[in-house]
Amino acid sequence: MQDDYVRIFDTTLRDGEQSPGATLTSVEKLEIARSLAKLGVDIIEAGFPAASQDDLEAVRRIAVEVGNPPADEAELARPVPIICGLARANKKDIDAAWEAVKHAARPRIHTFLATSPIHMKYKLKMDPEEVVERTAEMVAYAKSFCDDVEFSPEDAGRSDPEFLYLVLGEAIKAGATTLNIPDTVGYTTPEEFGALISGIMEHTPGIENVIVSVHCHDDLGMATANTLAGIQAGARQAEVTINGIGERAGNTSLEEVVMAIRTRRQMYDLETGIDTTLLTRTSRQVSNFTGIPVQPNKAIVGANAFAHEAGIHQDGMLKHHETYEIMRPDMVGVSQSWLVLGKHSGRHAFKAQLAELGYELEQEELNRAFKRFKELADRKKVITEADLEAVVADQISQPHEIFSLDGLQVACGTMGMPTATVRLRGPDDQLYIQAAIGTGPVDATFSAIDEIVKMPNTLQEYSVNAITEGIDAIGEVTVRLQADNGSIPQRKLPEQNVSRPRTFGGHGVDTDVIVASAKAYLAALNKLLVASGRYGKVETSAKIARTAKETVNA
Ligand code: KIV
Ligand code: ZN
Repeated sequence: MQDDYVRIFDTTLRDGEQSPGATLTSVEKLEIARSLAKLGVDIIEAGFPAASQDDLEAVRRIAVEVGNPPADEAELARPVPIICGLARANKKDIDAAWEAVKHAARPRIHTFLATSPIHMKYKLKMDPEEVVERTAEMVAYAKSFCDDVEFSPEDAGRSDPEFLYLVLGEAIKAGATTLNIPDTVGYTTPEEFGALISGIMEHTPGIENVIVSVHCHDDLGMATANTLAGIQAGARQAEVTINGIGERAGNTSLEEVVMAIRTRRQMYDLETGIDTTLLTRTSRQVSNFTGIPVQPNKAIVGANAFAHEAGIHQDGMLKHHETYEIMRPDMVGVSQSWLVLGKHSGRHAFKAQLAELGYELEQEELNRAFKRFKELADRKKVITEADLEAVVADQISQPHEIFSLDGLQVACGTMGMPTATVRLRGPDDQLYIQAAIGTGPVDATFSAIDEIVKMPNTLQEYSVNAITEGIDAIGEVTVRLQADNGSIPQRKLPEQNVSRPRTFGGHGVDTDVIVASAKAYLAALNKLLVASGRYGKVETSAKIARTAKETVNA
């Protein structure tokens, strides 16, 4: 089944969300899924439904809302994306995956079982024969619910190829329609991985009737090269994440594979369905929501990916852009015309501009975003596309406003103790005021917030970034924190019996970096509070305010 179309399987919401600290709320997941659908992703792996009821619910919501054509658009230019849920090779996981994805017009169950000697012996404690048997049994079980079944032999990169041919052949006989070959620990080189895929294409019985997929990790920095080598050897599905986020060093980055195929068309002679002009925007959204910054020199979507600093390069560029540019910035959606809105822009223009950027906010959210935009426009003359996205992402990213910032004043410098006075609006709609000292203004601000919120935590990461250039640039702050007292349940990962303490990311933007820091810290704390269950179970912003109030009044 080899054609010239490479299916893009995005696992940002599953493998990507397994990045330390990348916990996303269900609202953020839904927004990202919507963006992935707009981007033209063929398959969205929306999560690991067996991890928790919340994970199942988030996948179900994506299946319902992104995995079905809108009622008013009977005929879409392209089919809605397939919505996929991951399951270990056991009935309970497969039941949960089906429960979540069955609402999509095109559901898929993805089940996996390790095949490398080290995983079979130490992790699974299973004989190779048992692995073959379990694979056939569980693929057939998944098939009893869903026509579209994907199977992955985990750690295929370190598995015996002969054993893989056997396992994969059994998976095909049991009904698998896609066979995904993961280099789970990012161990292989492009030559080895390409040869592994060629061997599978040649020796697996029935392989001509299924799609072969590749899934690489970047531990040795070879994920993109390995993925492309696998595609050249005949794979027609690439499993990737936006910005390459994922376990440890991450997964193969979507934008790198897609742009390599597009830019080197003569080399690969292949196509994808991705609208590359949406790459930058989607990258920014994922970075804003996950709190994982994109390194400036990251290929395709890094801030410097199209910057020419050296005089010789600038001179060349002025003479002919192709001297130093293999892709035009507009091909990946790097806008040359930065100015979008100003102080006098009205609500209508604001809404239209957001729609242009791919955001369709509900009335209440739109009102809040417009208010924030006006506040910003009072302080910043030129509002760029990036500023606007940061404001909206910031808002979507903070749906659980149990505590919100109502006022902040800091005194710092070399003449006294850095002091912050913070005023927060609490869940009972009351105002709380607290002053604290610290090693600097940010530390003092966080201490004052801690005094009010009383949720013991350890700050794991704090970073500040200027979104645009100039003295009035918006400061973007990202924090990541972890609950201290063990009151938050640990996070279950798809690998057998592995749990990890949960971390929570927060994102805040403002022209004042201390205010942005306070907002980011509160955003992360609010997520932590929600996870702790202290304010009941909350879901959307409107519901949150209500639930929190009811809990406090109860
Ligand atoms: O890396 C891996 O092996 C995985 C599988 C679950 C496909 O993510
Ligand atoms: Zn993986």
